[in-house]
Amino acid sequence: MQRHVRKAVFPVAGLGTRFLPATKAIPKEVLPLVDRPLIQYAIDEARAAGIDEFIFVTAKGKSALEDYFDSAPELERSLREKNKTDLLAALKPTEVPSGGIAYVRQQEALGLGHAVWCARRLIADEPFAVILPDDVIEADVPCLKQMVDAYAEVRGAVVAAMEVPRAATASYGVLDVASENGQLIRMKGMVEKPKPEAAPSTLAVIGRYILPPSVLETLGQMKRGAGGEVQLTDAIAEEMVEGRPVHGFRFRGRRFDCGSKAGYLQATVAYALSRPDLRDEFAEFLSHTIEMARAAE
Ligand code: UTP
Repeated sequence: MQRHVRKAVFPVAGLGTRFLPATKAIPKEVLPLVDRPLIQYAIDEARAAGIDEFIFVTAKGKSALEDYFDSAPELERSLREKNKTDLLAALKPTEVPSGGIAYVRQQEALGLGHAVWCARRLIADEPFAVILPDDVIEADVPCLKQMVDAYAEVRGAVVAAMEVPRAATASYGVLDVASENGQLIRMKGMVEKPKPEAAPSTLAVIGRYILPPSVLETLGQMKRGAGGEVQLTDAIAEEMVEGRPVHGFRFRGRRFDCGSKAGYLQATVAYALSRPDLRDEFAEFLSHTIEMARAAE
């Protein structure tokens, strides 16, 4: 299998029901953490891992995403005329070289596995990354870069994994562990959304994957799994059945589930506190607000 990972798939065709009513009119991927939309964090992470081809799997109602990565000549002209160089610089990360970004549609939300399969022609016959932009990971070394480095060692699929409380396993793909070696976990199976009492471990897969193209063939069989959806987890588990290696990877970093309201709010606080221009004022506001809430109890 070719070693270098050049392409990343961003499945963004989900309905985002946990964020209604906001997601009635805007995709959740353009919700901002401080001043940058979730999708910007995902693109930056992919770039830091050496990826330069970005494939979005979109759906109806997601045009704000496409516009975000388009050029904005009038806005730029106006900023240039006013000499707003700092704001022009803030727009830089939204620029993608022509042809570097592609969009395919998933006409029906049949599941994450189906969304990835929709990108098969653009992925072609090479290993690729999958990033779920609603999983935001704060890390010294960006999570996908950590995984690309691990992939160079192990070959075969690598999925990001983290410990979750047993009761939460019902919301994740869960690893069946064969053996562990540092951050790498050799797997013997993987189960999507198990009943907590039947979960093979408390190690959950989160939204970062490096996958071989053989996964696309399995997805093409369109087998329905948990929730009646075509599950990416099931196609990765099939890799193991076929005797190909699959590793979990304990990444270093803090993951926020920005597809949920609580996770999104936590990420907002964490990222605001990590910003030198906001930190002091925001920290003071937070401690004052907590004090007032305590006093009112
Ligand atoms: P989620 O399980 O978070 O679903 O999908 P969702 O629709 O985005 O959000 P909720 O649960 O209704 O609030 C995980 C990822 O898979 C993508 C989503 O866009 C998200 O990035 N996805 C899911 C698709 O692209 N297509 C699908 O059919 C399902």
